[in-house]
Amino acid sequence: MLNAKRILLIVTGGIAAYKTPDLVRQLTKAGADVRCVLSSAGAEFVTPLTLQSLSGNTVYTDLFSLTDENEMGHIELSRQADVILVAPATANTLAKMAHGLADDLPSTVLLASNKPVLVVPAMNVEMWDNAATQDNIKTLQERGVTLIGPNEGELACGEWGQGRMSDVDDIVNAVIHHFNMTAPLKGKHAIVTSGPTFEPIDPVRYIANRSSGKQGHAIARALRSLGCRVTLVSGPVALAEPKGVDVISVQSGEDMYQAVKAAGPADIAVCAAAVADWRVQETASQKLKKQSGQTTSTLNLVQNTDILQALSQAGPDRPTLVVGFAAETQNVVDNARKKLASKGCDWILANDVSAGTNTFGGDHNTIHLVTRSGVEDWKPQSKTDVAEQLAKQVVDFFSSRTTNTQDMGA
Ligand code: CTP
Repeated sequence: MLNAKRILLIVTGGIAAYKTPDLVRQLTKAGADVRCVLSSAGAEFVTPLTLQSLSGNTVYTDLFSLTDENEMGHIELSRQADVILVAPATANTLAKMAHGLADDLPSTVLLASNKPVLVVPAMNVEMWDNAATQDNIKTLQERGVTLIGPNEGELACGEWGQGRMSDVDDIVNAVIHHFNMTAPLKGKHAIVTSGPTFEPIDPVRYIANRSSGKQGHAIARALRSLGCRVTLVSGPVALAEPKGVDVISVQSGEDMYQAVKAAGPADIAVCAAAVADWRVQETASQKLKKQSGQTTSTLNLVQNTDILQALSQAGPDRPTLVVGFAAETQNVVDNARKKLASKGCDWILANDVSAGTNTFGGDHNTIHLVTRSGVEDWKPQSKTDVAEQLAKQVVDFFSSRTTNTQDMGA
């Protein structure tokens, strides 16, 4: 139900925080990957250890602990989630959100976020009814924040009225509903290639390249988070497998080609792998030994199948949208245009991989999207953001096709 959905749960201070361990348990049971941020007031009601044990992830409690390089920064924390859920959301938290205050980790994460936010208010009835709170709620809703509850009932303070935090089941259902409404690629299948390939020379040696697979894996994750079924065919990488994605691990370019063929048919193909153009003609079955006096050696290479080209020219089996990459060190856009034409794909994401750009292996990328109708220069951004921008354009591509088809039928 919530397969592979990344939920950032922000727990602020209120007696209703006692329900959050159960909330974490239910969300996790439904398949979500839950990370928690706990305010200092929230930590008075529920311990970080409880949330950590139930979510299986580090709990973030203090802005300054995130300055450690090994920790995730507050911006990254908010960007890596598919949705942010604030439960319980106190009157104070809602006021800070409405006014853009950022004086602790929860409010800083919320201000730095570009993700959908669901809030679950919990407070005393007079606080809820107060005009200030009502104005803040109205402001937040106008900005697109989704409200879950509050309910009427007996409040923690003993009074009766509106302000009771929604039941855990209702919160989980609201989260599922949010994703059902935002799964525009549901029913589509994407094949994504990622990482380098290893082309064997003999049993111990191979030809490889510096691709980390970070961009391809981020694309698989971004498409999955929009409801797409994703098959990720990956060369050898040191990355965690994206949740909810079918991962097929391969070594060589020809293995990758066979795996891609077997994974079809697909609606979308994104070839982000740095497939070796060449493989060794005859792999030696025994380790190659150097001869005494030998100072040079020659390897005979033959071309690997071009997977992007094969997919683009697959006739009736061709995915509706075929996207490739062009890693270039000079004339980036011109070379990408040539690749678009020679391979026959629909879009090329061209990037500069010259020494000094740190694109290969790094976390950032600067993309020029080359299509038959022109070039779009994307701003430099993280590979996660590149993946999300691409996924959004994939959604736009399919929705404009649906509109055109409907127009033609009308
Ligand atoms: N590609 C592929 N199969 C191959 C080679 C490349 O699918 N055997 C795909 C890559 O995944 C990428 C695009 O093709 O999407 C890159 O095009 P390519 O012309 O191969 O780039 P380079 O390897 O950089 O080629 P060149 O050396 O000609 O620039």
